[in-house]
Amino acid sequence: MESPDLKTEFAGVSLANPVLLASGTCGYGSEFEPFLDLRELGGLVAKSLTLEPRFGNKPTRITETPAGMLNAISLENVGVEAFLNEKLPALPDGIAVIASAFETEIDRYAEVCRRLDGAKGVAAIEINASCPHVKAGGIEFGQDPKVLASLVRSCRGATRGPLIIKLSPNVTSIAEMARVCEAEGADGVALINAVQGLMVDVRSRKPVLRNILGGLSGPAILPIALRMVYQVSQAVGLPICGIGGISSAEDAIAFILCGASAVQVGTISYTNPGAALEIRDGISAYCQEQGVAAVRELIGALELPPPARP
Ligand SMILES: Cc1cc2nc3c(=O)[nH]c(=O)nc-3n(C[C@H](O)[C@H](O)[C@H](O)COP(=O)(O)O)c2cc1C
Repeated sequence: MESPDLKTEFAGVSLANPVLLASGTCGYGSEFEPFLDLRELGGLVAKSLTLEPRFGNKPTRITETPAGMLNAISLENVGVEAFLNEKLPALPDGIAVIASAFETEIDRYAEVCRRLDGAKGVAAIEINASCPHVKAGGIEFGQDPKVLASLVRSCRGATRGPLIIKLSPNVTSIAEMARVCEAEGADGVALINAVQGLMVDVRSRKPVLRNILGGLSGPAILPIALRMVYQVSQAVGLPICGIGGISSAEDAIAFILCGASAVQVGTISYTNPGAALEIRDGISAYCQEQGVAAVRELIGALELPPPARP
């Protein structure tokens, strides 16, 4: 069999393969150049950007958990102008770079989008409507359907390019939030962001993180993320990018079977910075083994049991 076709499309962006690096876990891309050839990735989502540079929380702001990590970095970033003028031009041509926008007010989110709109080298804008540990803004943008609707509407008005909304898992109905994004004209949804969590140091009797709460990522959240991608795929026609606990090609394929057109790889890169390309190669090997000519054939191909008789 010939090499399987790994090309896919997400939210109107053509990708050479379905594997991207997740926002906040790959810096602005260049940080990964010693470890992998960025041009071999499907793409990358850069660290979320605010209008002005932001310094984030003081330590302790990251800790290990039994099956992942808990972080409360709080969106430290260089700001949108430094990204456009310094970070983006440092990347090799031809990489699908998705810029991520975050702010503390809706108008400011829209302004970040306006500045990114049409910038050379920005393939799409992902709205981080879901940071689980930022006090002002952050989580509530992704938790209240009405607030999410006005956020998506404002950002939609600020960019003609592909607009992706990254959803929070810290909600009762993820399907409802995806429907809001679809109704307001988003081109795709990415899910999930980190799950709100807490770790306690029982000797000091204090929370491990200075921020008290953090975002849980890594293998612990994989089944939650798969469940949400499946539910969203049943609820909307929007393309989905699956994120959460992916450490292997099998994990990535599970997301694709549940309806994701592409995936993002985050926490695993901290222990294995080359993981994203290993996952891409593993997807190719799986297609070959299964006689699948193109990875696109696997999107949403989950086989469900027949409904139980009453
Ligand atoms: C240290 C760290 C920083 C992160 N920063 C961001 C960020 O700036 N913007 C964002 O949308 N998500 C951010 N995330 C969330 C990841 O993009 C991803 O949604 C989450 O970690 C789940 O994927 P994973 O289990 O593969 O890591 C961050 C995650 C980690 C671990």
